[in-house]
Amino acid sequence: MLLGVNIDHVATLRNARGGFEPDPIQAAHTCEENGATSITAHLREDRRHIKDQDVRTLKKVLKVNLNLEMAVTDEMQAIALEVLPHSVCLVPEKRQEVTTEGGLDVAAQLERVTKFVKPLVDAGIQVSLFIDPDLDQIKAAAKTGAQFIEMHTGQYSLAFGTEQEKFEFEKLKNSASLAQELGLKVNAGHGLNYENVSRMHEIDGLYELNIGHSIISKAVFTGLAQAVRDMADLSK
Ligand code: PXP
Repeated sequence: MLLGVNIDHVATLRNARGGFEPDPIQAAHTCEENGATSITAHLREDRRHIKDQDVRTLKKVLKVNLNLEMAVTDEMQAIALEVLPHSVCLVPEKRQEVTTEGGLDVAAQLERVTKFVKPLVDAGIQVSLFIDPDLDQIKAAAKTGAQFIEMHTGQYSLAFGTEQEKFEFEKLKNSASLAQELGLKVNAGHGLNYENVSRMHEIDGLYELNIGHSIISKAVFTGLAQAVRDMADLSK
């Protein structure tokens, strides 16, 4: 599996003092030099971490792919069409949430999402929908024209090591299998860490993992280069 590293937390730390450090662009370079195959940045409506200029600079300087996470809004669509990242991942966004809480409800807004996806795909951007491992969501996602889904692994991660783990893991496995049958490529992410990532190898055909919090957390103690190398090794 490929490893996308989410660098939002580096920007959060930078913004805490309003200055320039730590620099998310430097972090992105360290990630790509140590095994990340893409860099994910979530440009939130409130710009709480990644800023517009970060996205533009990343697009210019990265050697690996830029994956822009964003909400389904006209503003974000315009930015994506201007910057042309390699891929976008469409996520639901609530102002008060600490992090993306659930998957995008594609089934409930199929027409809106389908209309939103088309210009992005037409512009050559790979579109991924961040959805819960739910069969109805997968079926809906397959109708939108998006080429990828990213399965929300948050519930699996929370359940890891408990009685619920088997249930949550089966949902991921079944969802991935249906998605692939329907012609979608499958990524996964949210809450993955150095322990629970191991079971992702049991899911056939997973393409890329997107991981942020656990890598940046480990980096506090080991340095970012080592933290990325260790996760890249576990993802291979
Ligand atoms: N994928 C998506 C769509 C996300 O919103 C996030 C969190 O920003 C991640 C992956 C990474 O999650 P984590 O930081 O828990 O590894």
